[in-house]
This record gives sequence, structure tokens and C-alpha cells, in this order.
Amino acid sequence: MASSSLMATYNRADTAFETGQGAWLFDTNGNKYLDLLSGIAVCGLGHNHPAVTHAIRDQAGRLLHTSNLYEIPLQTELANRLTNVSGMDKVFFCNSGAEANEAAIKLARLHGHNQGINTPNIIVVDSAFHGRTMATLTATGNRKAQAGFEPLVSGFIRAPYDDVEAIKSIASSTPNVVAIFVEPIQGEGGVHVPAENYLNELRSICDANNWLLMLDEVQTGNGRTGKYFAYQHNGILPDVVTTAKGLGNGVPIGACLAQGKAAEVLQPGTHGSTFGGNPLACAAALATVDTLIHDRLIERAETLGKRIIDGLEASFEGANYITDIRGKGLMIGIELNAPCSELVMLAKAKGLLINVTSDSVIRLLPPLTLTDDEADLAVDAISKLIKVYAGDDRQGQRRAKGRDSSDRRQSSEND
Ligand SMILES: Cc1ncc(COP(=O)(O)O)c(C=O)c1O
Repeated sequence: MASSSLMATYNRADTAFETGQGAWLFDTNGNKYLDLLSGIAVCGLGHNHPAVTHAIRDQAGRLLHTSNLYEIPLQTELANRLTNVSGMDKVFFCNSGAEANEAAIKLARLHGHNQGINTPNIIVVDSAFHGRTMATLTATGNRKAQAGFEPLVSGFIRAPYDDVEAIKSIASSTPNVVAIFVEPIQGEGGVHVPAENYLNELRSICDANNWLLMLDEVQTGNGRTGKYFAYQHNGILPDVVTTAKGLGNGVPIGACLAQGKAAEVLQPGTHGSTFGGNPLACAAALATVDTLIHDRLIERAETLGKRIIDGLEASFEGANYITDIRGKGLMIGIELNAPCSELVMLAKAKGLLINVTSDSVIRLLPPLTLTDDEADLAVDAISKLIKVYAGDDRQGQRRAKGRDSSDRRQSSEND
């Protein structure tokens, strides 16, 4: 592959896709793949969705970019759409998940300074993933990702995920905390679904201590978990929520939403982005959000997720090499009892695109437009693949061995 002029930041698979349609991708050799990854939770409407394609073509023929020095009516319309679906008050647009999180971090710090706290701290958690910029890398709870980039940014306090007592203990012992920042379900960290009332408890702690509750919904947002945002499963409102990935169905766009006092923190001159919320990105995102809502794809994510998890549970009943099958909506993790990154390549050879994160968790993030037949096909194909890999002949089940493959590509390294 002609990749020699590219910086070596990615372990790329030796495959290039040429076209896509719905949940299917077609490579340059004419091979067909069922895409259960959606560009890592980006193409929620699948590939080449007519509404998005039409919106992009139409907008490209009018106007691509004007800068944020002028009114951008499509940006205002998209902000209205997002505040309507989320219960938040105001939106700042940027171009990626990391940038949305940078906006949230800056907002929290400024909120602290506005209250006379000159060294504000933000609580973040183990195994979190928030991005690769310096502040979001610091917030990320993965030493491997941080190694070599020290000095990291100050002003972050680390706690275990899904541990309310640990947060209470920080509240009673640490001054100058201004916010908690967590993912409602950890994606890169291994599809960790916290206790059902985790976010409610965090909301209460934030209220009691005058902290901002900030949620990273870069991956969980835009319908993926069966609600527009995952916090809507809990009936709470965060002060700040960030999103990106699925918002533009492949056109880069990120957003930081805030409500109440947090919505008034960022004022002219405090933050900005040249490209953020430009007409092209907003046209694509409007088409995406409208299609998600009008085609009832968010409810569909919930139904499809149950169908896939039920299918996997039935298929792996009693399989001792499966540690857990978990998830919400179409964010699904299958945890094996040993590292299994090479399954990514084995699956691709069978025409199936999956991801492995945290070494031993197969992560499925299929498009929300998947048909029932495609969902059943996915369950069947994944089950067969894992059983062969684990040496499960259905008479006696053996342990999945941690094979020492040098081809551990496309694992969480590529987030
Ligand atoms: C929860 C979460 N936050 C932030 C990011 C970073 O987003 P981006 O790669 O668009 O900067 C990711 C990417 O995987 C993510 O999953």
C-alpha cells in the first residue's frame, strides 16, 4: 500500500474501501464487508445515506464556508434541533470529539475562575477516553496513550469509574473541584456500562457541591444507545454534554452543549473555531439528526441492540471463554477471557468489520439502519468466528488462548 508518505500514527489494515451502501462496504478488489463498526460509531445512518448525500451535494453547490464572523443560519437551525432533543440551552460547534471536550474543559475552568477559584480541578476517571489533544489526553485514563507526552496538563483529579464513594471522598477532602467529566458508557475503555443510577448519583453530588456534571457523549450520543443522548436513560440533565462522531454521519463536526448557568460561561473572545459549524458540516448534521428522529432510528437502536445481545447470549450460553456480553442499544461489547485482537483480521477475512478494544473486548458499533436480517447475519457470523477462535466444538469448551500474534492491529490503538 502506498502509505510511505504518511506519518505512522495508525496500524492500518491492508484494505481500502471504494464504495459503501447502508451497512455494506466494498473494497478495491471487489470484496464485500458487513460493517459492524460504522467508522467507529460515526456512520449511524450507514454509508451513502440519500438524505445526507443530498444535503451535502445541495449545500456544496451553494456555499461551503464563511467563518464565524457572520451569521450562519444552518448553524442556528442545528443548534435549535440539538437543544430540542437534549433539553440543553446553548451549543458551541467545533470539528471533532477532542475539540468538543476541550471546549467543555475550558468552560469548566472559566466557570471556576468566575467564582474566584484560580486553580480549578476537574474529576476524571480510570479507563476514560476523551481524545488526543493535550488536555483531553490528560483527561483520558490510559497511561499507554499518555506515555511520552509528559508534562501533562494540571488541574485533573483521577477517580475509579462507576465508584460513587470515591467521588464523595474527593468531595470531602479536595478543594477547588469545579466539575466531574465522564462517559455515560465507556467506549474505548471496554464498553463499560456503569450501575444504573451512577449518573443520578453524580448529578446529586454535583448539585450538593456546586460542581458541573459534564458528560462525554462523543461516542454514546446521536441515538447510539437507544436515546438521543445516553443520560436520557437516567432522566437527568448534565450541565455540559459533548458530542461528535455520529453527528455528521461522516462529515467532521463536534458540539459542546450546556444548560443553566453553564450555558452563559463562554462569551465573545473566550473560545472559537475557524471551521466549527460551517454551512457544509451543519447541512450534513441537520440531515443526519432529522433522519435519526423522523425514521425513528433511535428507538430502532434499542430494539436492534436487544436482538443482537439476545442472539449472542443464546449462542454463547455456557461458553466459559466468554466473560461478559454487555452494552446498550447498538454499543455492544463481548468480553473474552483472553486477549483477542487478532479476531479483527480473522473477521475481515470473513467479510465482517469489527473492533477489539481493551485487548479482550470485541466492540460492535453497527449502523442504526441495520435490518433484522443483517443483525441476525452479524450474530451468526460473529458467533461462528469466536467459536472457531476459541476452539469451541460445542462438545467440550476450551479456553481461548492468548495467541501471541504480531498482527494485533486495529485494536484500541486506533480509537
Ligand atoms: C468518548 C470519546 N471522547 C472523545 C473522543 C475523541 O474524538 P475525536 O477522535 O473525534 O477527537 C472519542 C474517540 O474515540 C471518544 O470515544
